[in-house]
Amino acid sequence: MNNTVSVVYLDQPERQSKALAERMNMPMCDLSTTDVEAYAFFLSYRDGCLKLLDRQTLKKGGLTVDIEPRPGEQHSYPAPKKDLLAQAVGKKTISIVDATTGWAQDSLALFRMGYQMTCIERSAIMAALIEDGFQRLAQKEWVRNRQLTPPSLLVGNAIELLGNLPEQPDCIYLDPMFPQKRKQSAATRKSMAILRDILGDDLDRQALFDAAMQAAGRRVVVKSPDYAEPLGGKPHESYQGKLLRYDVYLT
Ligand SMILES: C[S@@+](CC[C@H](N)C(=O)[O-])C[C@H]1O[C@@H](n2cnc3c(N)ncnc32)[C@H](O)[C@@H]1O
Repeated sequence: MNNTVSVVYLDQPERQSKALAERMNMPMCDLSTTDVEAYAFFLSYRDGCLKLLDRQTLKKGGLTVDIEPRPGEQHSYPAPKKDLLAQAVGKKTISIVDATTGWAQDSLALFRMGYQMTCIERSAIMAALIEDGFQRLAQKEWVRNRQLTPPSLLVGNAIELLGNLPEQPDCIYLDPMFPQKRKQSAATRKSMAILRDILGDDLDRQALFDAAMQAAGRRVVVKSPDYAEPLGGKPHESYQGKLLRYDVYLT
């Protein structure tokens, strides 16, 4: 599959787009002159944020790191620690490293619950989208009023980075891409489908688990689809959701 990514600009090459294209060593693409068929995905600054687009969403739409609370989530800070994710992370946990940040939805939910978050992402494309999301988060009134610092982002392979963290986190959270067994449901999954198209499965997830077990202070939490074998053998605890599971390994 052609999964080439380009930075797109609509009229004049904006400074912001140009800087991103240079930083990421990506071609710039002018919609009025470039043959867009040469690219499968695009990054574009629109509506005040950085968006990932495919050819269908090139003119309108696109995916962005959503910094708003999830549907049904309480809009208070800190949000209640009562869902399966919070139970898996554990009552004594203060600091968490999310070693597979992706669209940062789990990281952001944990941040809103009040955990100290450090994020790792190895895809430069996802890292650019996450950075943009965290910058927008820093501008939110509830974040500024409480003088909260948005999660920090480390860009690179967590298998290497976890061995060099400045402080040992209580918990390391892993949500690698597992091979897909069932068709994913519509809207919310579009973001994961596009991630899979660009990045493929995370084939080194076993090595990532081993690195996490070495680096975590108290526990490693692995989010898996319900059909997948536990990444580290029998977990100490497991929290079963509808289609997914959080396996907990104490270090
Ligand atoms: C399934 S997504 C994570 C989704 C995320 N939990 C969320 O809430 O949006 C997996 C992400 O982890 C990243 N990833 C996988 N293995 C990694 C590694 N060893 N180091 C850094 N990032 C990794 C992939 O690039 C991908 O963006």
